[in-house]
Amino acid sequence: MTFEPACALDDLEVNSPSRLIVGGVAMAVVRTPEGVFAVNDRCSHADVSLSEGEVEGCTLECWLHGSAFDLRTGVPLTPPAIRPVDTYPVRVIGEGADASVEINPVPHVRDTDAPVEDSP
Ligand code: FES
Repeated sequence: MTFEPACALDDLEVNSPSRLIVGGVAMAVVRTPEGVFAVNDRCSHADVSLSEGEVEGCTLECWLHGSAFDLRTGVPLTPPAIRPVDTYPVRVIGEGADASVEINPVPHVRDTDAPVEDSP
């Protein structure tokens, strides 16, 4: 597992997605009160950038058709998207103004790629 430098923590505005390229992967990176999350920037429904979407709680809503993806799991909680997006391990190094964000560009392994309708 290799973490790569992504940005300074202060570069991330709370609840405002940023598009970052880490390890050659385009990601939507979101700082929330619950922590920093990274998901693949490409919506699983169509080829649009999730980093242009809106953050609501711990979800990121696609700007085009409104699917809301859980930032913790990548699972779409609302249609029309039915497939999850990849999520990536994130860690914050340091404190205060020196805090920085590192991301592993290898996605978390999911138990299943089942559509949201099949989820409990
Ligand atoms: S393109 Fe994202 S929900 Fe349709």
